[in-house]
Amino acid sequence: MKGQKIKAVLEATETGKEISVQGWVRTFRANRFIALNDGSTLDNLQCVVDFEAIEESLLKQVTTGAAIQLKGVLIESQGSGQKVELQVKEIELLGPSDPEKYPIQPKKHSLEFLREKAHLRVRTATFSAVMRVRSALAQAVHQFFQEEGFFYVNTPIITGSDAEGAGEMFRVSTLDAKNPPLDDTGHPDFKQDFFGKETNLTVSGQLEAEAYALALGDVYTFGPTFRAENSNTTRHLAEFWMIEPEMAFYDLNDNMNLAEKFITKVLKIILKNCETDLKFLDERYTKEEQSKPQHQRSSMGLLEKIEFVVNNEFKRISYTEAFDILRNSKPNKKKKFQYPIEEWGVDLQSEHERYLVEKHFNCPVILYDYPANIKAFYMRRNEDGKTVRAMDILFPGIGEIVGGSQREERLEVLEARIKEMNIEEEELWWYLDLRRFGSVPHSGFGLGFERLVQFTTGMGNIRDVIPFPRTPQNASF
Ligand code: 4AD
Ligand code: MG
Repeated sequence: MKGQKIKAVLEATETGKEISVQGWVRTFRANRFIALNDGSTLDNLQCVVDFEAIEESLLKQVTTGAAIQLKGVLIESQGSGQKVELQVKEIELLGPSDPEKYPIQPKKHSLEFLREKAHLRVRTATFSAVMRVRSALAQAVHQFFQEEGFFYVNTPIITGSDAEGAGEMFRVSTLDAKNPPLDDTGHPDFKQDFFGKETNLTVSGQLEAEAYALALGDVYTFGPTFRAENSNTTRHLAEFWMIEPEMAFYDLNDNMNLAEKFITKVLKIILKNCETDLKFLDERYTKEEQSKPQHQRSSMGLLEKIEFVVNNEFKRISYTEAFDILRNSKPNKKKKFQYPIEEWGVDLQSEHERYLVEKHFNCPVILYDYPANIKAFYMRRNEDGKTVRAMDILFPGIGEIVGGSQREERLEVLEARIKEMNIEEEELWWYLDLRRFGSVPHSGFGLGFERLVQFTTGMGNIRDVIPFPRTPQNASF
C-alpha cells in the first residue's frame, strides 16, 4: 500500500522510474493536471493525466479534497515551477470528497473562517507550513537540551498546588457538580473526591522540576499547562505548552545566558531545517504586513526578524531602568498609555513592553530585578528588600515570551514570603523540604511554546499555531 513521500519524490534526481504516491487533491485543472499534496512538504506534486486512458467516471471523482493513489512514471517537468512531474498511468480513488461541500476551496480563506474548520485547516498551505515548523521547533528544543546535558522530566498534569499563586486554575474532580457531598460547613467535601483533596490542572511544572534539578542538576519539562484566565487576546490560550528548564547552581545571570542561548540556537536550527516552509511564511507575512496601515507595519520581513534575533544580543535592563525610560517616554508624557507610568512598582502592561521592545530598543529585551509585589512567591529576594531576581524576555510583536527567576533557596525567607502572601503552606510542605535538605542556589524559566511558534511563523494570532486551540467559550474539536 504505502507509496513514496512527495517530499522525497520532489528531491529525487532520477527520472524514468515507476513510482506510486498518495495524497489529497489540491486542484485538478483541465481534466489533466492534478496538484497532489501529502503533507510531507509544502510543495504539491504536479501529476499529468492522459484523460483518454483513464475512465471518465473515475476522473469525475478526482476533486479538490479527495484522497487518491497514483501510479506513474516520474519525468522531467515540461512546465516551469517544478523539476519533475508524474506521468499518471493509474488512479485509485481512496477517499472521495464532495466538492460542493468541502470547505477548503482552492482560494484564499480567512484565518477566522479556517479556525471554525480546525479539523481541515491543516490541509491548507499556510497551516501545514505552520504545523511542520511547530514540529521542527519541538525537536529543536529537545536537541538543544540533550546537547547541553539536560534531563527531560515529565511533571504531573494534575496537581494540588498553584505554582504561580494566581488562582487561575481548572478544577479536576469526579464529584457530581450538581449534587456534591457537603462537609460540616456546607461546602463541597473534597475529602470524598477522587484524590481525597482539591486538585487542578497544572499552571506550570516548575515546582516539581525544582525537586528534580536538586538531584539531577539540569532538567527541563516540556508539557501542556492550563490557565483559566479570561484573556481574549492574540497571545493567550487556556491550554498551552511550556518549556521549563530548571538548573541547580545557576544564578540569575546564568539563567539569562541560558535563555538567550536557547532561543538563539533553536531559531538557528529552524532556519536550517525549515527553509521551504519559512520562505513561504515569509512571503505570506510580507503580504499581510502590506495590507496594514503604514505605521503598523513591521520594518522587517519574517526571515529578517528571525535572523536579527539570531545575530544580535538581547538588551538587558533592570525593571527600574525600564521604569525610568517609560516614565520619561513621549507616550507617557502625552498620556497616550492606557495605564500611565507614575509610581515605581506598577506591573508593566503589554503597551509598555511593546514600547520598550518595538520603539525604544528595537530588539529583544530581558528585564530583570522586578518589584517583589508583582511576582510569584518563589523568586529570590534581593538585598534591597524590594525587588526579586526575576527576569522576563520580551520579543517584538509577541511581548513576553519567557518568564523566569532565580529561586528563593533560603528556608526562612521563603516561609516568610509564603505567609506574607497568604499562600496555603500545607500544600507546599514538600517544596519547603527542598530548602531543608541540601538547598542550593538554583534558577529556571518558562518559555511559552506557542509564542515561540508565533514568532517563528509570523502568525498574528496564537490560535493559529496550535492544532486545536482552547480559549474562553471555545473547546470545539
Ligand atoms: O511567566 P509565566 O507565568 O511563568 C511561569 O509559569 C513560571 N513557572 C516559569 C518558570 O520559571 N519555570 O509563564 C511562562 C511563559 C510566559 O512568558 C509566556 O510565554 C507563556 O508562558 N504563557 C502563555 N502562553 C500562552 N497562553 C497563556 N495564557 C500563557 N501564559 C503564559
Ligand atoms: Mg510571566
